[in-house]
Amino acid sequence: MEDRKCRSSPTTWTIVILNLICILGVCPADGASAGADASSSLSTYVIEVRKPMDKHLATIEDLDTFYQSFLPATTAGSNQEQRMVHSYRHVLSGFAAKLTAEEAKAIGEKDGVLDVRPETVLSLHTTHTSQYLGLRRGVGLWEDSNYGKGVIIGLLDTGILPEHLSFSDEGVPPPPAKWKGRCNFNRTSCNNKLIGARSFTDSSSSAAPYDDEGHGTHTASTAAGAFVKDASVFGLANGTAVGIAPLAHLAVYKVCVLNGCSESGILAGFDAAIEDGVDVLSVSLGSKNPSQFPSDPIARGAFAATQKGIFVSCSAGNNGPSSNTVSNGAPWVLTVGASNTDRTIKATARLGNGQEFDGETLYQPRDFEPAQHPLAFSEQYGDYFPGKVNVLYGADNRVEQGREVKDAGGVAMILTNDPLLGYTTFADPHVLPAAHVSSVAGTEIKKYIKTASAPTAAILFKGTQFNGSFAPAVAYFSSRGPNSNSPGILKPDIIGPGLNILAGWISPIDNSKDKKRAFNVISGTSMSCPHLSGVVALLKSAHPDWSPAAIKSAIMTTAATSNAKGQPIMDEAHRPASIFATGAGHVNVSNAVDPGLIYDTELTDYIPYLCGLNYNDKNVSLIVGKEVSCSSIESIPDYQLNYPSITVDFVRLGTNVSVKRTVRNVGPANSRYKSVIEPIVGIGSIDVSPRELVFTKANETTSYTVKFTRKASPQAVTAQGAITWVSAQHSVRTAVAVLFKESGGL
Ligand SMILES: *[C@@H]1O[C@H](CO)[C@@H](O)[C@H](O)[C@H]1NC(C)=O
Ligand SMILES: *[C@@H]1O[C@H](CO)[C@@H](O)[C@H](O)[C@H]1NC(C)=O
Ligand SMILES: *[C@@H]1O[C@H](CO)[C@@H](O)[C@H](O)[C@H]1NC(C)=O
Ligand SMILES: *[C@@H]1O[C@H](CO)[C@@H](O)[C@H](O)[C@H]1NC(C)=O
Ligand SMILES: *[C@@H]1O[C@H](CO)[C@@H](O)[C@H](O)[C@H]1NC(C)=O
Ligand SMILES: *[C@@H]1O[C@H](CO)[C@@H](O)[C@H](O)[C@H]1NC(C)=O
Ligand SMILES: *[C@@H]1O[C@H](CO)[C@@H](O)[C@H](O)[C@H]1NC(C)=O
Repeated sequence: MEDRKCRSSPTTWTIVILNLICILGVCPADGASAGADASSSLSTYVIEVRKPMDKHLATIEDLDTFYQSFLPATTAGSNQEQRMVHSYRHVLSGFAAKLTAEEAKAIGEKDGVLDVRPETVLSLHTTHTSQYLGLRRGVGLWEDSNYGKGVIIGLLDTGILPEHLSFSDEGVPPPPAKWKGRCNFNRTSCNNKLIGARSFTDSSSSAAPYDDEGHGTHTASTAAGAFVKDASVFGLANGTAVGIAPLAHLAVYKVCVLNGCSESGILAGFDAAIEDGVDVLSVSLGSKNPSQFPSDPIARGAFAATQKGIFVSCSAGNNGPSSNTVSNGAPWVLTVGASNTDRTIKATARLGNGQEFDGETLYQPRDFEPAQHPLAFSEQYGDYFPGKVNVLYGADNRVEQGREVKDAGGVAMILTNDPLLGYTTFADPHVLPAAHVSSVAGTEIKKYIKTASAPTAAILFKGTQFNGSFAPAVAYFSSRGPNSNSPGILKPDIIGPGLNILAGWISPIDNSKDKKRAFNVISGTSMSCPHLSGVVALLKSAHPDWSPAAIKSAIMTTAATSNAKGQPIMDEAHRPASIFATGAGHVNVSNAVDPGLIYDTELTDYIPYLCGLNYNDKNVSLIVGKEVSCSSIESIPDYQLNYPSITVDFVRLGTNVSVKRTVRNVGPANSRYKSVIEPIVGIGSIDVSPRELVFTKANETTSYTVKFTRKASPQAVTAQGAITWVSAQHSVRTAVAVLFKESGGL
């Protein structure tokens, strides 16, 4: 069903992006709202009500009775209970119920009702990586953080395949005493690794959260999968598969099914995770278009979680490479973009004239001879050539197109990228010999076909290769800033591995039978998010007293900004990547454990921040979960929030901008830091005051200001640089993004 939806989509390169999400098994929902037009039909609404002051509502039963009192009388009796979908305790004051449009309107007029809205539907943003990130058995951060032992990672996703070997609990201790969650699988399925499992997509609250999709099994095993020897797909990408925090616990909250993730279920998942006592929440899903914080269930749920000290890590979205596409842009979450790794699963197209172009495929049959075959270019969909190597333009529905080429009698397929997709290539489980090559290669191949009298090509399979030249490079699909809901907060925050990631799957995609050892290679910011969730678990284990904001700061100020060759991190076109694609840069796990200084954000800082975004009192109150009157506090512009990156927004603010930041010393008690400024195109002067930060105590805080003065008429739309505080042992890099003009589109 989801295939059909994807293929009916109109333009070429939108299809590619939708297709990526379809690989993850879920197409974006068609509309924002579940639709509440037919007045007699029932839709799910989220209803927010004023918290009763009354102490009698302490128990869950009392709360349910109170919530039910808002439901219309016509739904009284046994029917009433079926109307109630979820009642919330932590994430917000309110409930979700099935209502007609008229009933919803009537509830909205009742006393004490703050908001009634039809729920939205969000979509999923769809192993070698631990080693690539510098994690090795017996040394460094894995050892220092005890492999994430004792930390509980919760995932809001499609559920899990509990019997997968990635969820073995060998060496994992029982959960900490604070754990209150439950497991709705039978008793043999949960263990010390998988300690919680619940579903919020089924009508029954005791349903087991089986993963029918694969996405949730993949993300869970990426974050905290156990060591599984000899993991591979088609014998490729072979080695020991392991998650980033292999001794951390997992708690799974199923909130997504094949056609999406409902708002009421997402809120219920957050509510349960907060109640249960998770430490980290990994959320690889989001709305198609960035939605405003008051009505965004992830921003709302994450705020409630952060209030309880839970770290929330989210995918940035798969709507790149256009700008202004990043989702999950609230400052209280970590927003993760996607990059490639140094591993490719290589297949080379060798043309009759000797030119060679490296590409990728996951299917590399041993018996396919690397012989030259006639080569032809398929001008349009369905126009295939039997007995030939078919060259296809555009990388949409990649495996499906290969199937059609094969059915038409084609010998092999060369998929060539659209220019926008650049060098991002996928290692897909094709059904025929194939190579997915870059747009640059595609242009050359087409030129050759046009000019050669009898063009030919061979496909050479080269298996799993390491030390790929341009890693990390941003993947084309990774969503980009600026952050439309809060331009003064740079998003994404960080990039991590998200292209061609091998992790656990629900059924073998090759000929093997054993689903316990099923693996698949898939891509998306859905894959980069759980990598960072695992990193957070390691840091939490190493520094149990750090706040979510402090951990985020440690990750961001120690991020790498250059690739393995020492060049700036590149984007999909192999140009130096924009800061709006990389955020602070690529995560460097071993540096993050010892950042020297941190930018911390108090929960109370978010109130002046939200007032500064010009939300009204009602909306600010809904987000923070208590009455706020913005007129009675001093609000701040978003860029003044004590964030570990700085955005200078000259679109809104004249020619001079002064930004204040406060840092805390988490390095040696006696430390002295000097500021090092990377010049920024279009900025005339950058004055840092003071120029030196001197600490004499652990935990000592100090503030500094930076005054940016722009040149009279800068040419650029945006620019980037950094202010780095350097001491004998530490280098604390604060990324600086500058907006000169409104940057609509690419
Ligand atoms: C992390 O940074 C350190 C110091 O800059 C560097 O030596 C190391 O190679 C980096 N690790 C990774 C995995 O990039
Ligand atoms: C428990 O779940 C496992 C894995 O899903 C299954 O194989 C087993 O049959 C179940 N046992 C019972 C008693 O239902
Ligand atoms: C992966 O498979 C190749 C080919 O079978 C083999 O040579 C190599 O040793 C394997 N690598 C690992 C890490 O198992
Ligand atoms: C990649 O290159 C580095 C240094 O050039 C080398 O130490 C490492 O062994 C290589 N890794 C692989 C898997 O070939
Ligand atoms: C409050 O939030 C809702 C939902 O995001 C939005 O529609 C409305 O415009 C907001 N009101 C104000 C004044 O910000
Ligand atoms: C901006 O800063 C420059 C240099 O510090 C100063 O000369 C100028 O008066 C300032 N302009 C405004 C509008 O504050
Ligand atoms: C620093 O602050 C943390 C958390 O507030 C506390 O646990 C730690 O003991 C403090 N360290 C020192 C040396 O004061």
